Amino acid sequence: MDYPSVTVVDHPLVQHKLSILRNKETSTTNFRRLLRELALLLGYEVTRDLPLTRQHIETPLTAMEAPFIDGKKLVIVPILRAGLGLADGLLDLVPSARVGHVGLYRDPASKAPVEYYFKMPEDVAERLVLVCDPMLATANSAIAAVDMVKQAGARRVKMLCVLAAPEGVVAFVAAHPDVPLVVAAIDDRLDSHAYIVPGLGDAGDRLFGTR
Ligand code: PRP
Ligand code: URA
Repeated sequence: MDYPSVTVVDHPLVQHKLSILRNKETSTTNFRRLLRELALLLGYEVTRDLPLTRQHIETPLTAMEAPFIDGKKLVIVPILRAGLGLADGLLDLVPSARVGHVGLYRDPASKAPVEYYFKMPEDVAERLVLVCDPMLATANSAIAAVDMVKQAGARRVKMLCVLAAPEGVVAFVAAHPDVPLVVAAIDDRLDSHAYIVPGLGDAGDRLFGTR
C-alpha cells in the first residue's frame, strides 16, 4: 500500500518485537513491556519532524548554540483502553508532553465506535497531537478519535498504531488525508468479526489480562 501519508516502520527491532507481541504464548507482562518498547521505536519516527530551535549552552570545552525542540510540544492521546500501552512509552520519550484521553469501544455487532470519555488540554490547538492505539482494524475508532480531537481545536495531528488492516488504512486515509499514519505493519485482512489477521488478538485484553 503506497500512500504518502502512511509510513510503515520496517526496522528490524520493530519487526522482531512485533513478532513476539503477536505470539499467543506471550504473557501479559511481556506484552505490556513490548508495547512500551514499540512505542519508543515508533515514537522516534513519528517525532522526526518536530521543529528545533537553538539555545546557547556551554559544554565543558566551549560555548555552542545547541538544538532543542521548539516551543510548545506534544499532546499524547491514547484511545482507551489499549492506547494506554503506547502512551507510557511515548511519555518516556517526551516526559513534558501533555496527555489527553479518548474513551471509545467498538460495538461488537455494528463495529461502530461508542464514546464514553473525552478530555483534552485547553491549549491543544498549539500542540502536535499524537493519537495512539495499537490496532487500526476498520479504523472506525481512529477516525472518530481524530474527528474528536480536531473538533476540540487540534490543527496538527498524527496517528500512531502498531498493526493495521488494509481496509482500515484505506478508510483512515480517506477520512483524514492530512493526518500522517505511522504503523509497524499492515497485515493481510480483517476476519468476519473485524479482527486483524494474522494480527495479535484483542490488544486491550492482552495488555490488561482481562481475558
Ligand atoms: C480495539 C483497539 C481499537 C479498536 C480498533 O479497542 O484498541 O481502539 O478496537 O478497531 P477498529 O479500527 O475497528 O475501530 P476495543 O474497542 O476492543 O476497546 P478496548 O481497547 O477498551 O479493549
Ligand atoms: N481490536 C483489537 O484489539 N484487535 C483486532 O484485531 C481488532 C480490533
